Amino acid sequence: MSKENLAPVWSRAFDIDLDHAEGIYIHDTQGNRYMDFTSGIGVTNTGHAHPRVVKAIQDQAANMIHGQIGVVTGKAVVELTEQLKAVLPPALDTYFFSNSGAEAVEAAVKLAKQATGRTNIIVFEGSFHGRTHMTMAMTMSKYSYRVGYQPLPAGVFAAPYANCFHCPVCQRTHTVEQRAAVSASCPNDGGECCGYALDQLRLMFKTQTAPQETAAIVVEPVLGEGGYVVPPSSFLKGLRSLCDEHGILLVFDEVQTGFGRTGRFFALEHSGVIPDILIMAKGLASGMPLSGIASRREIMKKWLPGSHGGTYGPNLVSAAAAVATIKVMREEKLIENSAARGAQLMAGLRKLQAEFKQIGDVRGLGCMVATEFIDAQGKPDKAMTDKIVKLCADHKLLLLTCGPYQNVIRWIPPLVVNAEQIDEALRIFAAALDAAG
Ligand SMILES: Cc1ncc(COP(=O)(O)O)c(C=O)c1O
Repeated sequence: MSKENLAPVWSRAFDIDLDHAEGIYIHDTQGNRYMDFTSGIGVTNTGHAHPRVVKAIQDQAANMIHGQIGVVTGKAVVELTEQLKAVLPPALDTYFFSNSGAEAVEAAVKLAKQATGRTNIIVFEGSFHGRTHMTMAMTMSKYSYRVGYQPLPAGVFAAPYANCFHCPVCQRTHTVEQRAAVSASCPNDGGECCGYALDQLRLMFKTQTAPQETAAIVVEPVLGEGGYVVPPSSFLKGLRSLCDEHGILLVFDEVQTGFGRTGRFFALEHSGVIPDILIMAKGLASGMPLSGIASRREIMKKWLPGSHGGTYGPNLVSAAAAVATIKVMREEKLIENSAARGAQLMAGLRKLQAEFKQIGDVRGLGCMVATEFIDAQGKPDKAMTDKIVKLCADHKLLLLTCGPYQNVIRWIPPLVVNAEQIDEALRIFAAALDAAG
């Protein structure tokens, strides 16, 4: 079998001939077994082929695969709204579904524009929101997502994210170790944040987008593709009060942080900030294509009927997978496991950070963890990062990178990962650090 008819536009981190996958493992056709600490980029939170999710998919496929929501409303869709109600803040009681994360971001922006009658959107440096034209315009994590596609839709403005390790104020006054300590104190920094990011946003309201023209501020409560950055909770609280002050809708993009990834069902629970619109995808349906947005009924009622929709969303098989996913997460205590295994992983990585100076920062929440690599001058070290990823893959541990300088390794195992598997991954990583020199 040849892969040469696949479009080269897909960059591939590994060249594995997949045979099958189960739990945290991917098996190739040569009989190798890999620890999958990528989870299909934060998707397979219940593990590969969880038996209860597989059964729900099989049962729904035998019952009905597709019933367009404008024609029939399947039981699985209604059941999904009930399951979501049980895990989301009570205020976010009305749901719209689509297929991919980018589609859900588009939906959130369209809803925000109609609900406010305003045109502009604020996002953050390092953000990733998708690859459609609008979501590309909202994506600032690396130029490769935008190159060759300009001009992009207008009305999008980017403010700095509260990124303590890379904060321009801290960089002038702090050593690498001090910056790592500040970063490690997030999100509960006890109000110690210098407030740079919020100050820049306030300036943006004076210089680039008038508050009365701004429909929404769209933010990832933990920055994903942009480097797995945990902000101080004062940042998210500050965004909430600026939105309240100016009648702007606050939108949390929880595509990557949702469904247990950060050790809570949704990352918003760490700061207690409730957005006006929440975007979800990835972990929602354990790998079946499904995304959605949740908002308050009074906001959703301003969305003109027929002005948004699509053929597939929500696909019935995907909806059934999502119902099973949420039940598995709650009944099998995957959120608690994410918090416990994430803490174990971060403790192990911090020990290695003390030993290996090339690890500049270790940060994260739950099983959304990052190790950032720096060189002897404290500058981003992509070459070392790539070397470590390759060495780990050679020893059957799959890890991905992220960040604008691609010098961050992200650790995102399925949330069924156990303590022995975390220890095994740490052993492989430590050996790679030794070997990389
Ligand atoms: C925070 C965030 N938003 C949106 C998206 C886009 O999702 P999709 O690739 O399903 O369109 C991603 C994908 O990685 C993401 O991480």
